[in-house]
Amino acid sequence: MIPGSKAILLAIVLAAVLGQIDGQKAGKLTQNPCGAKDKCHTCIQTESCAWCMQPDFKGQSRCFQHSSKVCPEEFVWNPDTSEQILLNKNLTLASVAGGSSAIGYGAGGYGAGGAGYGAAGYGAGGGAGGGYLSGSSSSSSHYHSSSSSSMSSSYGSEYSAGWSASSSSEIVQIKPQSVKLKLRINQKHDLKVSYTQAEGYPVDLYYLMDLSKSMEDDKEKLSALGDKLSETMKSITSNFRLGFGSFVDKVLMPYVSTIPKKLENPCDNCKAPYGYRNHMPLNNNTESFSNEVKDAAVSGNLDAPEGGFDAIMQAIACRQQVGWREQARRLLVFSTDAGFHYAGDGKLGGVIAPNDGECHLNSQGMYTHSVLQDYPSISQINQKVKENAINIIFAVTSNQFSVYEKLKGHIQGSSAAVLSNDSSNVVDLVKEEYAKISSSVEMKDNATGDVKITYFSSCLTGGPEIQTSKCDNLTVGQQVSFTAQIQVLKCPEDPRDWTQHIQIYPVGINESMLIQLEMLCACPCEQPGSTGYEVHSRHCNNFGTFMCGICDCDEHHFGNSCECSVSDMNSTINNDASCRADNTTTTDCSGRGNCVCGACECFKRSNPEEVVSGPFCECDNFSCERNKNQLCSGPDHGTCDCGRCICKPGWTGTSCACQASNDTCMPPGGGEICSGHGVCECGVCKCAVNEQGRYSGRHCEKCPTCSGRCQELKDCVQCQMYHTGVLKDVNDCARNCTTFTPIGVEKVEIDERKDEQMCTFFDEDDCRFEFKYSEQGELIVHAQEEKECPPKVFMLGIVLGVIAAIVLVGLAILLLWKLLTTIHDRREFARFEKERMNAKWDTGENPIYKQATSTFKNPMYAGK
Ligand SMILES: *[C@@H]1O[C@H](CO)[C@@H](O)[C@H](O)[C@H]1NC(C)=O
Ligand SMILES: *[C@@H]1O[C@H](CO)[C@@H](O)[C@H](O)[C@H]1NC(C)=O
Ligand SMILES: *[C@@H]1O[C@H](CO)[C@@H](O)[C@H](O)[C@H]1NC(C)=O
Ligand SMILES: *[C@@H]1O[C@H](CO)[C@@H](O)[C@H](O)[C@H]1NC(C)=O
Ligand SMILES: *[C@@H]1O[C@H](CO)[C@@H](O)[C@H](O)[C@H]1NC(C)=O
Ligand SMILES: *[C@@H]1O[C@H](CO)[C@@H](O)[C@H](O)[C@H]1NC(C)=O
Ligand SMILES: *[C@@H]1O[C@H](CO)[C@@H](O)[C@H](O)[C@H]1NC(C)=O
Ligand SMILES: *[C@@H]1O[C@H](CO)[C@@H](O)[C@H](O)[C@H]1NC(C)=O
Ligand SMILES: *[C@@H]1O[C@H](CO)[C@@H](O)[C@H](O)[C@H]1NC(C)=O
Ligand SMILES: *[C@@H]1O[C@H](CO)[C@@H](O)[C@H](O)[C@H]1NC(C)=O
Ligand SMILES: *[C@@H]1O[C@H](CO)[C@@H](O)[C@H](O)[C@H]1NC(C)=O
Repeated sequence: MIPGSKAILLAIVLAAVLGQIDGQKAGKLTQNPCGAKDKCHTCIQTESCAWCMQPDFKGQSRCFQHSSKVCPEEFVWNPDTSEQILLNKNLTLASVAGGSSAIGYGAGGYGAGGAGYGAAGYGAGGGAGGGYLSGSSSSSSHYHSSSSSSMSSSYGSEYSAGWSASSSSEIVQIKPQSVKLKLRINQKHDLKVSYTQAEGYPVDLYYLMDLSKSMEDDKEKLSALGDKLSETMKSITSNFRLGFGSFVDKVLMPYVSTIPKKLENPCDNCKAPYGYRNHMPLNNNTESFSNEVKDAAVSGNLDAPEGGFDAIMQAIACRQQVGWREQARRLLVFSTDAGFHYAGDGKLGGVIAPNDGECHLNSQGMYTHSVLQDYPSISQINQKVKENAINIIFAVTSNQFSVYEKLKGHIQGSSAAVLSNDSSNVVDLVKEEYAKISSSVEMKDNATGDVKITYFSSCLTGGPEIQTSKCDNLTVGQQVSFTAQIQVLKCPEDPRDWTQHIQIYPVGINESMLIQLEMLCACPCEQPGSTGYEVHSRHCNNFGTFMCGICDCDEHHFGNSCECSVSDMNSTINNDASCRADNTTTTDCSGRGNCVCGACECFKRSNPEEVVSGPFCECDNFSCERNKNQLCSGPDHGTCDCGRCICKPGWTGTSCACQASNDTCMPPGGGEICSGHGVCECGVCKCAVNEQGRYSGRHCEKCPTCSGRCQELKDCVQCQMYHTGVLKDVNDCARNCTTFTPIGVEKVEIDERKDEQMCTFFDEDDCRFEFKYSEQGELIVHAQEEKECPPKVFMLGIVLGVIAAIVLVGLAILLLWKLLTTIHDRREFARFEKERMNAKWDTGENPIYKQATSTFKNPMYAGK
């Protein structure tokens, strides 16, 4: 063999080995989710799985990962996600000047003033328009024609040429408009959506005003500002329409006073109250706005909140009467200085019928169902707003702002702003809010729970896309792209929901992209009439329907090809359950066998020595405990039976590694197993540990820390050697101490070599005695002949001595005292004698002599 071929061979072998390892690794790391699926539709509802409908398929599972080529391609059913754009009209590009910037357009075009607008704006645009896109000229004529219907006549002549030349009359702000999508479950599909804000997009502004008494000054101001408002808006878009409506409240107690006089004239200069009135439908005749507002009369009501929700509902629902255009930015300015009634409040006035969300206006534009239906709820309003793509601007006084600020969060596309108390800032307010609304775009959809749509966009940054459905600071003509990531989370229960129409729309604009979504939840081969579908098929022994390569058996048969009959088996047993040990598992035959007609046929192992057995293939004779890599310590020791070792006689233990006999645990000199201080386990002593200490040694014969038998022997040593202790009675001693007779020695000394134990005690007389014993075979005790007693002390002598000493000391003290007093007395007497000698006693005047007679005088006696 030449060296080159050797190297190639080596490489091939290496590759094969590595490939195998790789394959094993992959198999272990990622559990194949396909394998467990046994029906075509459950299979393709699993990501990346494909179904094989080959009639006599020999592989592991018909549901397989499509990357593994186990099935001939013509039998594979693996539908793929597909996207087809049905309608893809070009976006209406900004008009010629719009390409540079919208600000430039506003300033240059309209700054010159209302009358000169057309010529100045477009004339300039045309002059500068050297490098415009080829498409822009056609789309600009689009725009012109669309505005033709509503544009004021003063501009008309400038544009008439453009309108007539155009064929299409539509403004397109979202692209594409319609898409057909087929989606596999859990597969994410990215759909591109573009949005642009067309220049001069029509605007409908409906001014809805609270006309209770407190708003009188506002009304006056609005009427004065009407012209300015329309002019301002026309400077933003030439295609502008304005409308006006007003509301008070339901004409019922407690909302308004129903006293007949008050009903006619609730306050000074007031007209009768009413629910809602559409004074002026949206139209291009903006001059009449001021007059309409001036003519509208204020009215009065009782409670603080007003019936504004009724009015909003009517203003939105009455599309015809109010005159909302299909293609226009729709603004509803809601101006009030009070709160609002909402669903449920109608009960106060006895109105219980819920709001039906329909239009109920008479020919005068009055709301007819005001006292028949309750107020709408916030979510009803929100629903209507969404359906009609309305932007509500809550223009409210500052004391109410916090309430409407919260309300706007619940109504899509709405905003709130503070109105000064006389509405003097209304023009600026509308302009600002419109700018805010039109400069941002937010994508929404009406997908239900099973379909998840996530939006990504880089907006105007040009950077990477981030997850957002909203872009801000958009100006006219700028185009933003969104990526709508669509994912079907699961197949809906109802097959009718497998095809859905989903709408993706920018908030506040009546344009949308419609997705015709088809969820790939079913296999055609499961439907009658398709090629893979065969009733009473021979593949199924004529007992079942053959579909997608498998048999769907009738109720009397089961098995892969309906080969098993129910009548053969106990009818209570069902095919699958009888192959499972219990109902907690879903794998037949413990995964180690095939379920054939309700019984397990266990797989054969490649090694004939290894056998799987048991009714559910739950047993085998190769997975028992091993000792030294020998199953049950080898065939000599035991055999393996269903996971447990069965030991041969003479062997024991979980792996049959232990000898059953206790011979090796016997001490050589005879005696108990493990010297009585342990148990024999697997031929080895396991020594005991007790309160005396820890035994050790091969036969548990050693115990360095144990007190040993000293205590036990003490009494007999005491009585036999010294005739003392508890057995000092001779008979007791003789009776209880028979095992040994201590040998007297003068001094007890331990001989280390003989394993002797030394014992030392004190007896009741405090005498110390020692003995030692050794247990080599029999018990030999050596004891001290004489116990060592402490010398006796003569206690009485000490006591008497102490008493005598005390008495003597006492006597001595007494004597001393007597002596001292005697001396003292002698001295005193001597002095007395001396003084007596010196003294001359006066006998007549003895101080202590008293006369024997005494005289008394009666004080009452007068002497007569
Ligand atoms: C759409 O625009 C592209 C270029 O932007 C142009 O080629 C195409 O013809 C336009 N399609 C229509 C229907 O106007
Ligand atoms: C208003 O629109 C109508 C058509 O709806 C049109 O005939 C009329 O000329 C327009 N008026 C103004 C002032 O634009
Ligand atoms: C939105 O526009 C379509 C046509 O583009 C129209 O059929 C539909 O009625 C409009 N919806 C509303 C709420 O105006
Ligand atoms: C508006 O309200 C302020 C205080 O909130 C008051 O000072 C002012 O006079 C009011 N203006 C009018 C026109 O009512
Ligand atoms: C864009 O909008 C944000 C607020 O959303 C604002 O802070 C920012 O100044 C705006 N940028 C431009 C360029 O207008
Ligand atoms: C979404 O809206 C479209 C158009 O209004 C409608 O046909 C479709 O049924 C809606 N889809 C869902 C899921 O509500
Ligand atoms: C199953 O059928 C056999 C005879 O075919 C009978 O002996 C046995 O009792 C039946 N068992 C049950 C649970 O019905
Ligand atoms: C499994 O069987 C037990 C009784 O054998 C029953 O109580 C239990 O509900 C069953 N569980 C299921 C999931 O069928
Ligand atoms: C398993 O059982 C089979 C048949 O009973 C026997 O031939 C085989 O030797 C056994 N294997 C072992 C490892 O005991
Ligand atoms: C061996 O000793 C253990 C306790 O130590 C005892 O249970 C067992 O029966 C003994 N075996 C024999 C054969 O005496
Ligand atoms: C001595 O032995 C007798 C009986 O043999 C017994 O009753 C007695 O308790 C023993 N005395 C002592 C101190 O062990």
